[in-house]
Amino acid sequence: MSLPPLLPGATIGLLGGGQLGRMLILAGRAMGYRFHVFEPCGPSPAGMIADNEINAEYSNEAALIKFAQQVDLITLEFENIPATAIQTIAAVCPAFPSAEVLHICQHRQREKDFLRAADLPHAPFDYAQSAISLSKVVQRIGFPCVIKTAAFGYDGKGQIKLSQPEDAADPVALWNQLGEPAQVVVEKWIEHKGEFSVICARRADGICKTFPVSENCHRNHILHTSVAPAQLSPQLIKSAETLAKAVAETLDVVGLITVELFLAPEGHLLVNEMAPRPHNSGHYTIEGCHTSQFEQQLRAVCGLPLGSTDLRQPTVMVNLLGDLWEHGTPDWSILLQEPGVHLHLYDKGSPRPGRKMGHFTVMDSTAALATARAENLFQTLSSCKASD
Ligand SMILES: Nc1ncnc2c1ncn2[C@@H]1O[C@H](COP(=O)(O)OP(=O)(O)OP(=O)(O)O)[C@@H](O)[C@H]1O
Ligand SMILES: [Mg+2]
Repeated sequence: MSLPPLLPGATIGLLGGGQLGRMLILAGRAMGYRFHVFEPCGPSPAGMIADNEINAEYSNEAALIKFAQQVDLITLEFENIPATAIQTIAAVCPAFPSAEVLHICQHRQREKDFLRAADLPHAPFDYAQSAISLSKVVQRIGFPCVIKTAAFGYDGKGQIKLSQPEDAADPVALWNQLGEPAQVVVEKWIEHKGEFSVICARRADGICKTFPVSENCHRNHILHTSVAPAQLSPQLIKSAETLAKAVAETLDVVGLITVELFLAPEGHLLVNEMAPRPHNSGHYTIEGCHTSQFEQQLRAVCGLPLGSTDLRQPTVMVNLLGDLWEHGTPDWSILLQEPGVHLHLYDKGSPRPGRKMGHFTVMDSTAALATARAENLFQTLSSCKASD
């Protein structure tokens, strides 16, 4: 059922208070929307710039209902929210993406089952519910492979790569190392030729639009850079876009869906995972595209026309992790004095190693030039002594 468009001036409820929510609010404020944030731990990066922040657990039904009563529509920036919380909220006010979409995307087994059922290309996988079954499953999948906990994984957390049979010699130790999970997925390790992602926005009436494919480079399992446009053949770009749209349509997503892809050694794309929200690999769209992923999320959930996703210029995004603060605040003048470079900081208090504190984007006439400048700037930033 399509609702009438929710026009600027309305109040959006946002589940999750992280940097994705913060950037969504920044985009929505420019359009005249108001925001209330629901987040267990405050003050949060998004809550700090919202009209209102409620700090309560996602299991607190009374707080969820009160929150839903004060807003016109609810969306999210974080997928590890119990699907039951969305059901509770959806009884009071429209909420996108739906509890069904969340239920699938927040759990690796359901996500893999979805890919298999939809006949979308993915790495061979199987699941295990105990250390004993883990042994058998690992033998079946073969080496190298990766064990992933079914729930609550991010930035490579809850994953163990097994390169050879000896790595699986003690399945009980592996199970303990993973925190004795209820379930794991064992996946064949793909010696891929690159990682890519596509963000697709979809409205309730089925109209959808993809953003340019980005190529993503990880360090220590955490995204380091995203480059757009990805240097792929036109056929592979088309194939990436088709996969993202197929995921969006089959899932019946309203809002955004990010589809992470591997380029298999044989030259075809495989779906790694999906996230029903804006994505770190889409931060380049803030300056790089005519419409940012955040504005597009709002347009999609509010039923407004989707904006142009055309690239203004080749753009590279570099993540700024807490490690960079080891000797104090980095010298931002290195970035600020550069033309075509934009600095984003998320106003997070403590810069712990691995914590996403901000990012910067570099725009240039070609992706190669932007990439070279971005790497140079990152090196300079990392090697310079702090300004305080
Ligand atoms: N089957 C695989 N073959 C090769 N590399 C893999 C495989 N699974 C995961 N990886 C590597 O580990 C990274 C993190 O894995 P994945 O995306 O599944 O987990 P995640 O913890 O949800 O990550 P994030 O939340 O940061 O996207 C991938 O981006 C990729 O670099
Ligand atoms: Mg991932």
